[in-house]
Amino acid sequence: MPERSWLDEREVLAIGSPLARSVELHGEIGSTQARARELAKDGAPDGTLVVSRIQTGGRGRLGRLWGSPAGGLWMSLVLRPDFEARLAGRITQAAAVGVAKALRSLGVKAEIKWPNDILVGGRKICGILAESSLAAGGGVGFVVLGVGMNANLDVEELGVEDGQATTLRRELGRDVGTAEILASVLDGLEREFGRIGVFGGILEDWKSMNCTLGRRVRVVRSGETLEGEAVDITGSGALVLRTGNGFVELFEGEVENLRAKPL
Ligand code: BTN
Repeated sequence: MPERSWLDEREVLAIGSPLARSVELHGEIGSTQARARELAKDGAPDGTLVVSRIQTGGRGRLGRLWGSPAGGLWMSLVLRPDFEARLAGRITQAAAVGVAKALRSLGVKAEIKWPNDILVGGRKICGILAESSLAAGGGVGFVVLGVGMNANLDVEELGVEDGQATTLRRELGRDVGTAEILASVLDGLEREFGRIGVFGGILEDWKSMNCTLGRRVRVVRSGETLEGEAVDITGSGALVLRTGNGFVELFEGEVENLRAKPL
């Protein structure tokens, strides 16, 4: 049995989100992402949520470690979308929009940095990790969507370089109940997933909340460094970069903003 944690299962079920019909709460676990994947492989239904108070082996994008001390919201969802695999990238954008809106509803001006980092004042407050697994027929079998929110903790506890990260506590000057944060995130995700079929609205919101487009950026992808102006995002979530050698579409990579957005 998973250890009982700071969130109460009944409290989570009472949120009534279709994304959290089945809930597994842990006091401490290696990674909610790994656990949710395990559950998904064993047939866990769409709407399975795993949350842990602490992760001892939290994982980020591009194989990085994700520091996950007590006070954050470390969660992973099992999703079983019924659309084709080529549209799976939409989940990333939809999730970024949903989480950014959730944070705004909690009172912080969250922005999206491509592909799906959520920043406040240029510092990362939340990371999103969407991992798809294909079904035999070519569709998306399941997606494990991880959300790591720096919530009720001090930046120093995260063990990241100075100026890189922020927390909800730092931005609001107070703590917010974990159940309230979770309810906002689930609501934000549900709303965006509900309109994923008509992607225009999500892309429009992504663009209106992003802090990447219009900037000169450096992107490292598979050991190669590219520089250029981030000019657009495609319908499949790729970042379009105008470089000295023409336009390049990027599907993965780490973006560094090189100078402030022109006024
Ligand atoms: C990123 O690199 O920005 C994505 C970070 C995703 C972290 C979350 S925390 C909950 C879930 N469990 C993990 O091990 N990773 C994700």
